[in-house]
Amino acid sequence: MDADNIKFFSGKRIPIETHRVRMVHRATLPSPNERARIIRAAGYNGYLLAARDVFLDMLTDSGVNAMDVQQYAAMLRADDSYAGSESFFRLRRTIEEVFGLPYFLPTHQGRACENIITNTFIGPKNIVLTNYHFTTIKAHVARLGGQIENMIIDEAFTPQSDYPFKGNFDLQKLTSAVEMFGRDRIAFVRIECGTNFVGGQPVALENMREVSRFCRGNCIPLIMDASLLSDNLYFIKTRESECRDKLLAGIIRELATLPDLIYFSGRKFGCAHGGGMVTGDEKLYEKLRELLPLYEGFWMHGGMPAREMEAMAVGIEQTLILDVVAQVPLFVEFLGKLLVEAGIPVVRPFGGLGCYIDAMQFLDHVPREQYPAGALAAAIYLAGGIRCAEMGVLSQQRNADGSEIFPPLELVRLSIPKRVFTLSHMKFIADRFCWLFSNRHLIGGLEFIEEPTVQRSYFGKLRPIENWPNLLMAQFSRDMPGGI
Ligand SMILES: Cc1ncc(COP(=O)(O)O)c(C=O)c1O
Repeated sequence: MDADNIKFFSGKRIPIETHRVRMVHRATLPSPNERARIIRAAGYNGYLLAARDVFLDMLTDSGVNAMDVQQYAAMLRADDSYAGSESFFRLRRTIEEVFGLPYFLPTHQGRACENIITNTFIGPKNIVLTNYHFTTIKAHVARLGGQIENMIIDEAFTPQSDYPFKGNFDLQKLTSAVEMFGRDRIAFVRIECGTNFVGGQPVALENMREVSRFCRGNCIPLIMDASLLSDNLYFIKTRESECRDKLLAGIIRELATLPDLIYFSGRKFGCAHGGGMVTGDEKLYEKLRELLPLYEGFWMHGGMPAREMEAMAVGIEQTLILDVVAQVPLFVEFLGKLLVEAGIPVVRPFGGLGCYIDAMQFLDHVPREQYPAGALAAAIYLAGGIRCAEMGVLSQQRNADGSEIFPPLELVRLSIPKRVFTLSHMKFIADRFCWLFSNRHLIGGLEFIEEPTVQRSYFGKLRPIENWPNLLMAQFSRDMPGGI
């Protein structure tokens, strides 16, 4: 692919799908009354909705990206042999070609890598320093008695800041943390590409180099979570001037030289289902490999079906194609602009993975103890059958004394899985959000009626404080009589 070939949108930056749709999944929008009944029965928790009741499912991209016909074709040649499968060798060859690293271990998904990595590196009182944590790595570190600390730049917490690489590490914070905790307590430093919890914001290649130099200088292992590498690559190429003329293949090869280990969720990176770890360090590889049969399966499949290894190999190869990698960021930008034009507070600059709405600003009359991001997520289901992810207080676990944890951001994430949605879907979403924004004073907070002590955002049930869904839907039928 020609490095200059960013020709996949028109002069008005309208993203153009560089694929044809040849198979579809029917989606229906329940009526407004049905939506009110369904979300009430689900305890105002999107995770408890049945997919058949969701019109546009923007909960996540994980494992729900549309696969390429070449991936399906590759699945047919899967070799299911327990040991020495051709599918494993093909996947390992692809990984080596893409990353330039020879030692690869497959796993069944991203958090399985985190389980093996933390069991290898973490002991009680150990610290992991990261630009920003994802829930699964935080839970694995905590389970083993460790602690994870965020080292991201302050711009990450200003939703309207236009800083182009809000996923960057703050080197000063990193230096202070090593001084404060002591070098020996630091188990590893973790770079998360495309930071999921702070708006899909990228990390600059230059920042990765600095972090790598810092870690090598301090003899601290550096581990990269490449689950969201595809979007991050697009931003490195388009926002980092030294990379504009570089091929994606060259950029990946360079960034792969920086950490000691790379792991990923293949439900995101590779557009299939699975995961893996890759390194140039033979000793580390052998150490990690010991745990694979214990938790995952034989080390040549790691619990991944052979057909998924085949699909993932093709998906990872396609990460080198610029117009494939560009699809999600361009859709995010298109939807983001429609929302911003209506005055809706969207995290800027537009990142990867999806559009992130600042719920604290959208519902500035709802106190954080009443879960504004959770309430907004429920309201957008009421308004348009759209399911999205709450990323705020509700996703946290209470402190031991029962008090709430208030993360720096209170976001609602509208994920845009690869190649699943069309531009008219984006326009529909923007339309319903605009309606919601002009009626935001009708949206109130939520309170728990069933609150599990762990993973309450997955299993918990809530109810509205005062009967705001009724008022909201009454307004809906006034504004859109007979409409759905
Ligand atoms: C950045 C990041 N790391 C790790 C994971 C965990 O991957 P998996 O869901 O495949 O276990 C995710 C999942 O969303 C993620 O976004």
